[in-house]
Amino acid sequence: MRVRTGAHSIDDNGSMQRRAWKTEKAGRIDRLRLVEESLGPLTDDSVRVRVRAVGLNFADIFALVGLYSATPKGPFVPGLEFSGEVLELGVSVDRPGIAVGDRVMGCIRFGGYADHLEVPATQVRRIPDGWSFEQGAAYLAQTLTAWYALSTLGDVAPGRRVLVHSAAGGVGLQAMALCRALGALPIGTVSGEHKKRFLEARGYDEVIVRDARFRARLEQLLAGRPLHLVLDAVGGTVQRRSFEALAPTGRMVVFGAAEYTPGKNRPRYLSSLWKYLRRPRYDPLWMISDNRSILAFNLIWLWEDQPLFDRLMDEITEFDLEPPHVGKTFPFAEAPAALQYLRGGTSIGKVVLTC
Ligand SMILES: NC(=O)c1ccc[n+]([C@@H]2O[C@H](COP(=O)([O-])OP(=O)(O)OC[C@H]3O[C@@H](n4cnc5c(N)ncnc54)[C@H](OP(=O)(O)O)[C@@H]3O)[C@@H](O)[C@H]2O)c1
Repeated sequence: MRVRTGAHSIDDNGSMQRRAWKTEKAGRIDRLRLVEESLGPLTDDSVRVRVRAVGLNFADIFALVGLYSATPKGPFVPGLEFSGEVLELGVSVDRPGIAVGDRVMGCIRFGGYADHLEVPATQVRRIPDGWSFEQGAAYLAQTLTAWYALSTLGDVAPGRRVLVHSAAGGVGLQAMALCRALGALPIGTVSGEHKKRFLEARGYDEVIVRDARFRARLEQLLAGRPLHLVLDAVGGTVQRRSFEALAPTGRMVVFGAAEYTPGKNRPRYLSSLWKYLRRPRYDPLWMISDNRSILAFNLIWLWEDQPLFDRLMDEITEFDLEPPHVGKTFPFAEAPAALQYLRGGTSIGKVVLTC
């Protein structure tokens, strides 16, 4: 028997029931199923959250098809970030500013596609006043990515020129905003005119549409001015051309490979193999003489360095940035459609599920 108390269902054993999108194993996007399951007892250092919004990340798609290096073995619930209200605190939770009833946003290592969550209290932060739940769910993962790439690895500084690929996407928009806030000079690239117009309307006047003339367009826009930093999550020729455009002492930070985006449900094996075989390769010996370097990272592995992760979370929640741009919302029950929309590559800003 199941009993409903307010917004929550309780099972025969007194455990809270929740809905979650789960896959039995990675390999296909359409293995995702909406399930009802019990939440276990709340651990001492965790908080229980009634989720109101779930932020989608491109990594969710790669995880579902098994192309993501950190994909869990066996069944898993995808999802790296959420926002909601705190329902309960574990007995040892003592974080200033986190109390029952608070509006919080959080970043987790999988498990976010659920309407109730239990997460370590260190992984949540209060949603800034005036932000919606959707904006809260759109902030942490992508801002952490942009911030780590720009600051820790990219050594961004005022006056430095930064090439940001997919600049109208989730990470891209946060990178553009951070560059502006830090006095750096962002150049955005996008795949279509509608994204270029969107960025121009936000006051970014150096935006290139990445087409067959990408190299010429970049050279024309730079007009001999030095390019100091590239943020790349596309790969292939775009990455190679961007590296070639860097000035001496320049850095390229690589954190994704959207060119391997899967088809509707599965990887595109043949074209991915072709791209993999033709991928750009870099020789450290050339880098010494060129005096340009490449750095790479995946945020998911930074969880293993909790002090670093906590520090980055604190840093990005202390910024006074505008709330992130939520481009489209879908009801929680329509997660598969939301994933297909994000996979299509036309989205602007963040795609969010509302619960
Ligand atoms: N390493 C990390 O820790 C980390 C963390 C977060 C995100 N990422 C990576 O950063 C990138 C951005 O992530 P996001 O979640 O913010 O997604 P997003 O930028 O909102 O969406 C992905 C974007 O990729 C671009 N894209 C390029 N080639 C594509 C293709 N063949 N098919 C579909 N889209 C393509 C599209 O923008 P344009 O067409 O305008 O380029 C699309 O909008 C992703 O590659 C993601 O895997 C890495």
